[in-house]
Amino acid sequence: MSRTDVYGITDTLDDSTLQVLVDRLEARAKHVKFAAMLSEYLEMMRVDAAQHVLDVGCGAGVVARTLARCHRFRGKVTAIDLSEYLVRAGQRLAQAEGVAERIEFLVGDTQQLKLPDAGFDAAIAHTLLSHVEQPLMVLQELRRVVKPGGQIAIFDGDYASITFGHEDPKLGARFDLIVRNAVITNAMVMRQLPRLIAQAGLQVVAFVPHTLAEAGRADYWHSSIQSFRRILPKSGQVSADEANAWADTMERYSAQGVFFGSCNFYSYILRRP
Ligand SMILES: C[S@@+](CC[C@H](N)C(=O)[O-])C[C@H]1O[C@@H](n2cnc3c(N)ncnc32)[C@H](O)[C@@H]1O
Repeated sequence: MSRTDVYGITDTLDDSTLQVLVDRLEARAKHVKFAAMLSEYLEMMRVDAAQHVLDVGCGAGVVARTLARCHRFRGKVTAIDLSEYLVRAGQRLAQAEGVAERIEFLVGDTQQLKLPDAGFDAAIAHTLLSHVEQPLMVLQELRRVVKPGGQIAIFDGDYASITFGHEDPKLGARFDLIVRNAVITNAMVMRQLPRLIAQAGLQVVAFVPHTLAEAGRADYWHSSIQSFRRILPKSGQVSADEANAWADTMERYSAQGVFFGSCNFYSYILRRP
């Protein structure tokens, strides 16, 4: 079966679709609730003290740039993504923010990193694991490239929980599944993580659950819904008209103050023994 998750096939997408992803990732990163989840786990893993941090599945470099902008962080970041377009967008944004010299951007597959053993003090996968076919391989690679005692942060959505309220519950449930398939490869990976972490020979230092839910107006979910106009048809599950009709309904609910959208997110802080 061909893959429907657009974020898992970014090395094959056209530039205009990739720009939709960049815009969505930037809007998401700037949202106060999403930014708070990132800050919380960066602080928990005391990443400021690290000399060299690896950001895998970096996209346009949201995590790498956040770290490089942080005045307490004096190290450097290597940021890797499958998509050359996203990496180039990351380089441009880092340049504009004056932090380009602190970040090395590379194109590569996180399931098979072309990086030496034990070269990093810490590694971060910020919404990557739900998009790869072999999450265990990613964990094993991160264990290999992080120094003994080094920390690894795995942050992602529990996308099996993503849901949008709809006056027609059947249609609503159908679109919850369409959305999930269009943007996710492994909707339940964060529930499987305790077992995968043990298999990869890593230890859990901390676990933090979060819920990103909005009732009434769509704020965080607004840019998501806009991106779905383009992404849902691209995934091959619905026509552009169907995707736009669903998105129009969500926007109307938001304007009327009757929107509901929610997804759980989890942060795992791990340690290489
Ligand atoms: C949802 S985006 C997150 C991007 C970034 N971490 C952020 O939060 O803005 C997922 C990213 O993972 C990348 N990706 C997916 N599979 C990958 C793989 N096997 N190796 C490297 N990157 C991958 C995609 O290209 C995409 O940029």
